[in-house]
Amino acid sequence: MAKLIDGKAIAQEIKDELMQEIASMKERGIEGALAVIQVGSDPASTVYVSNKKKACEALGLRSESCEFPEDVTEEALLKKIHEYNHNPRIDGILVQLPLPSHIDEKKVIDAIEPTKDVDGFHPLNVGALLIGEKGLISCTPAGVIELFKRSGIEIAGKHCVVIGRSNIVGKPMAVLMLRENATVTIAHSKTKNLEQICRNADILIAAVGKPKMIKASYIKEGAVVIDVGIHRLEGKKLCGDVDFDEVEPLVSAITPVPGGVGPMTIAMLMNNVVLAMKEHYGL
Ligand code: GUN
Repeated sequence: MAKLIDGKAIAQEIKDELMQEIASMKERGIEGALAVIQVGSDPASTVYVSNKKKACEALGLRSESCEFPEDVTEEALLKKIHEYNHNPRIDGILVQLPLPSHIDEKKVIDAIEPTKDVDGFHPLNVGALLIGEKGLISCTPAGVIELFKRSGIEIAGKHCVVIGRSNIVGKPMAVLMLRENATVTIAHSKTKNLEQICRNADILIAAVGKPKMIKASYIKEGAVVIDVGIHRLEGKKLCGDVDFDEVEPLVSAITPVPGGVGPMTIAMLMNNVVLAMKEHYGL
């Protein structure tokens, strides 16, 4: 029987630890705050933003939100970011993506003060990760590393295949696994013999974006499988990039969807806000 990696429980464990840290900082007069910027009213983004604000509240952090209409100018958005950059009462800044096409996403990410970039998307933070320096790390891949550590799954020396090369998940995920001394292969949509490559993986991390694409034929017996995907099927049921029912009998450990990687992202966002606070207050 495969071990089910319980992301919900591990995320709660992390949030409980953070809540204590936040409370003890508050006793010293330090109150942390996250600023969340949303452009437009995409329903999915609204749910994500609301969940982020609720998580702040639950942990004892302040959250401030700024909602712009869909047709906001790039200039107005950048001005708000500059205000938050210089506001000492704000520790973390998050601009919910995606942004409307008339706004240059790169310009927006680059405008965020790197020590407040709790998404870990700024080039300075991405570069710091690559060369092993201190910085804020993208939440989902950082969350996957916590899942391994807190489940007692060894990474060093294992062959890890990451499927996906996005800036938010695939690339930082691969670098983090390398930092943990895995031997890393990055596969993507143009990879030839994907199935064969995946069958060589001791650890398979799927961040493909295609529902149930990873079948039994992609799996080495006894592998650890991490499913970063989340999709809503007809009938509203959620599934991941991995065909869980086919794959689960073959593996030693696997994350479910929902309740695997998903809950870790917000927990690690809260962790980044606490790291940003410590940096700002020299703790
Ligand atoms: N949109 C979807 N995921 C994310 C995320 O992790 N951060 C931000 N800022 N926007 C997103």
